[in-house]
Amino acid sequence: MTVSSINSHDKERPILVTGGAGFIGTNFILDWLKTEKAPIINLDKLTYAGNLDNFSAISPDSMIEFIHGDIGDTELVRALLERARPQAILNFAAESHVDRSIRDPAEFIDTNIVGTFKLLECARDHWERLRGEEGRAFRFLQVSTDEVYGSLQPSQDPFREENAFVPSSPYAASKAAADHLVRAWHKTYGLPVLTTNCSNNYGPYQFPEKLIPLMIIQALSGKQLPIYGDGMHSRDWLYVADHCSAVRTVLQAGRMGEVYNVGGRNEKTNRDIVLAICAVLDAEVPRVDGESYCEQIGSVQDRPGHDRRYAIDSSKIESELGWSPQETFESGLRKTVRWYLSNRDWLAGSRQAPTGTEVNFNGLQI
Ligand code: NAD
Ligand code: DAU
Repeated sequence: MTVSSINSHDKERPILVTGGAGFIGTNFILDWLKTEKAPIINLDKLTYAGNLDNFSAISPDSMIEFIHGDIGDTELVRALLERARPQAILNFAAESHVDRSIRDPAEFIDTNIVGTFKLLECARDHWERLRGEEGRAFRFLQVSTDEVYGSLQPSQDPFREENAFVPSSPYAASKAAADHLVRAWHKTYGLPVLTTNCSNNYGPYQFPEKLIPLMIIQALSGKQLPIYGDGMHSRDWLYVADHCSAVRTVLQAGRMGEVYNVGGRNEKTNRDIVLAICAVLDAEVPRVDGESYCEQIGSVQDRPGHDRRYAIDSSKIESELGWSPQETFESGLRKTVRWYLSNRDWLAGSRQAPTGTEVNFNGLQI
C-alpha cells in the first residue's frame, strides 16, 4: 500500500474513509480502487476488528494512504481535512458487535456516538470553509444499520426509511444516536449528509465473531455450532459487495439529507443460515468421519434483548437510484465459505487479535 501523503493539489480530490481496515471498509476500499479514480485516505484506529494485512495484495502504486487514528481525535482529523481537502467523508468506523456491546457498552458510546459527533464537527468546520463547487460537492456519508429500527413482528412490513427508531441493544442505540446527530447536523447547519441503513452483511474479511464466519471456524475446528435460543430469529442477509455498491451509488447520486435503506430481500432464520453453511462445507471439505457438519449444531443461551426479526424494504434506493443487489444468497455464501477456506492464515491471525477479544458472549473460545 502506498503510504505517500495525498495532498489537496492532487488532481482528483480524495475521499476519506473511516474504519476502512474493518470488514465492510476493506471491501469498500478494494472495490473502489478497481473502478474509481479518486484516491482514498483510510483513517482507522485499528481495534481488534481492523486489519491492515487486508491490503497486502494491492498494487504498491495504488492511491491509498493509511492514517492510524481515532475519529474522535479532533486535532488529527482537522489537520487531515485541511491538508487533503477530501471531497467526501464516509464514516464506517464503529464498534460493531452486538454481543460486545452487551458485555461492555462504553466503547460503543465513545466511538459510535461521541466519535461521530466529533467527526461531524470537524466535517462542518471543514465544509464551512470550502468555497464554490468544492463546497457544493462535499458529502458526509454515515454508514448505519437496520438495527436502529428495532425488531419486527412476523406480520409487520419490512423497515422503511420513515420507521421510528426503537433500538434494542447498546450497539443499536449508539448507532441510532449517531444517525440522529447526522440528521441534526444537516437540518441545523446544512451539512450535506447522506445516510445508509443496511441489513446483515456477509463475505470476505468479516471478523469471526459474527454468525457466518464464526460458524465456519467452529465447524472446521470440530467444535459446537452455537445457535442462540430457538434459532428462529431472522435477518435479511446481503453480500458485502452489494452493500459497497449501494454506498457508492448513494455517495454519487443520493439526494442530500436523505436516508436510504439497503437490503437483500433475503430473510432467513439463523438455523437456516447454519444449515446452509453446513451444506456448503459438506460439499467443499467433507468431514473425515463422513458425517455432516450439522451434527455439530447446538443450542445455547439466548442473547439478552435479542431482536427477533429484521427485514429491509429497499424500494427507495432501487427506484430512485437504480441500485439492486447482484449476488444471490447461494452464490454469495459459496464464495464466502471458499474465501475462508482459502484464507485460513487470515482466520488464524484474527484469532490472535488483541486482548479482550478471544471470548465471545457465550464464553466460546474463537
Ligand atoms: P468492523 O467492526 O468489522 O470494523 C470497524 C472498523 O472501525 C475497524 O477497522 C476498527 O478498527 C475501526 N474503528 C473502530 N473504532 C474506531 C475509531 N474510534 N476511530 C477510527 N476507527 C475505528 O465493522 P463492519 O462490520 O465493517 O461495519 C462497518 C460499519 O457498517 C459500522 O458502522 C456498522 O455499524 C455498519 N454496518 C455493519 C453491518 C454488518 O453486517 N457488519 C451492517 C450494516 C451496517
Ligand atoms: O443488521 C445489521 C447488523 O448485523 C450490523 O449492524 C451489526 O454490526 C452486525 O454485527 C450484525 O448484527 P447481528 O447481531 O444481527 O449479527 P451477528 O452475526 O452477531 O448475529 C446474527 C444472528 O445470529 C443474531 O440473531 C444472533 C445469532 N447468533 C450469533 C452468533 C455470533 C447465534 O445464534 N450464534 C452466534 O454464535
